[in-house]
Parts: sequence; C-alpha cells; structure tokens
Amino acid sequence: MVYSKLMFEKGYGYRRKEAVRKSKEVMRTKGDSAWLMRESPLLRTPDKPVDSYDFQFRPVLPDGAGNLKEYIEDTLATKYGDAVLLELGGTGTLLARGFSDGFFKKSAGVSLSDFRDDIDPRLKLSDKELNHRVIEGDILTKETQESVRSWLGEDKKVDVMIERMAGGHDFLPNEPFYMAPKANTWYELLDEGGILFAEVPDAFLDYMTDWEQYLSQNYGSVIDLQVADSECGIDVRLQKLSGAPEQLPLLPAKDVMEQARRLL
Ligand SMILES: C[S@@+](CC[C@H](N)C(=O)[O-])C[C@H]1O[C@@H](n2cnc3c(N)ncnc32)[C@H](O)[C@@H]1O
Repeated sequence: MVYSKLMFEKGYGYRRKEAVRKSKEVMRTKGDSAWLMRESPLLRTPDKPVDSYDFQFRPVLPDGAGNLKEYIEDTLATKYGDAVLLELGGTGTLLARGFSDGFFKKSAGVSLSDFRDDIDPRLKLSDKELNHRVIEGDILTKETQESVRSWLGEDKKVDVMIERMAGGHDFLPNEPFYMAPKANTWYELLDEGGILFAEVPDAFLDYMTDWEQYLSQNYGSVIDLQVADSECGIDVRLQKLSGAPEQLPLLPAKDVMEQARRLL
C-alpha cells in the first residue's frame, strides 16, 4: 500500500489500521484478502504472488540477502539437518515444504484448528516425511506453550519462528501490557542464533518506533532487529545473537504509558 506523509507522521499503529481498513475494502469489492490466506507457500508462486511468507518478510531481510528461503538457509547453514521450525498462527505445511529437503529436523504449526482437510486432504500426506506436526491451540495460553514444549522434547529451543496471522490478528487483545508477556514466552523459546519473523500484533504498533530505538541503544550488539512496513502490515525480523537476554527486552512501562497518553 502507498503511505502518505501524514500516515508516516502518525506512526505504525495508524498505518496498520489503514492497511486493515483498505484490505477490508478490497475484500468487499474483490472477495480476496489476507483473511483468506490459510496455507500459504514459503516462496511466491504464479497463482499466489502475494500470499507467500517471502512476499511479506522480504522488506525485513538485510540488503543482498536474496529471498526468505535463501536468507534462512544461509544464515543457519551450520544447523542444516538439525534446525527446528515453528509457525505461530498457522498450520505451516506449505511453509515447511518450501525449504530444502532435510534442512529442518522437524517443524510444527500452531493453529486454533487443523483445517487442512478443508483446503486439500493431500496436505497432511507429507507430515511424516517432513516430520511436521500441527498443534491445535491458542498461542495465548499456557496449555499451548506446554504442548509446544512437549513437542520440542529434548530439542528444547526453536531456530526459526514465524508468526504471520494476517486477519487472525483481529482476534488478539489490543492491550500491550497483556500481550507483552505473551510475546516474551515465545521469545524465550528461540535459541541463540535463532530468528523470529513476525507480523506485529496491533497491541504493539503504536510503540514500535520507541521500542526499535530502545533495543538499538541498549541491546544493539546482541539482538539484530529490523522493522519495516510491508504491503501486508508492519513486520519484524529479530535474531538472538550471542549474549542476547533470556527475556524479551521491553520498553519501560512508563514510556508505554507516556506514549499511550500522547495518543489519546
Ligand atoms: C489468516 S490465517 C493465516 C495462516 C498462515 N499463517 C498463512 O499465512 O497462510 C490465520 C491463522 O491464525 C490462527 N489463529 C488466530 N488466532 C489464533 C490464536 N489465538 N492462537 C493460535 N492460532 C491463531 C488461525 O487458526 C489461522 O491458522
């Protein structure tokens, strides 16, 4: 989408709300939108040029990184055959299938339900070969965290975590003090060297500029963070480098409150 100067001045939150409004408009007129993305491919395909994770996350890749697959496989080359992939908010079959054979040791998608049979019953056929699992659950609950930990078993940590819930974001609470500890529980599962790609939930959008600055000033050498506007939302790439804190560094509560007051 094209952003006006006013939209930039008003910040990420305003831009995401505008993007949602526009995509709802598109859905009304063309019957097509992010709300319909359910089993999206890793890379762009001729029939689905904008659904792919590559389309969404290319703007947060470092310059010259190639596409999303190349970036992940190159960055984690030493983990070939031993890497673990987790998608939050999706069944993740086509995502996992998009990587080179054997790159991931195992993968899982956490989704409210496993709706793959409604799309194409053949999707499940590669689960065994891929060592892929769909974990039905709500990413906001402890039970789901426990299911994921039990699926991880002795692997304990995740190397690539992806969250791209698109229209599913509409169902997440728009409350930063509630959502921040939830984000932290997933950040904790990311291994050192691990990379998180996420479409930023609405609750954080108004605080992203300040958080970006806070992280770069205080954790710039141990967390590699890139934030960008894509046509689909506001996205981040976060890599936990050596020495990164165990807990997700959050903007101090007083800064969140100040920003919330400014926005009133
Ligand atoms: C629009 S689909 C996107 C699916 C996939 N990520 C993709 O891009 O093709 C939204 C997904 O978010 C999941 N979802 C929404 N709220 C969720 C929650 N609280 N916990 C887990 N999954 C959730 C839905 O079950 C669904 O799989």
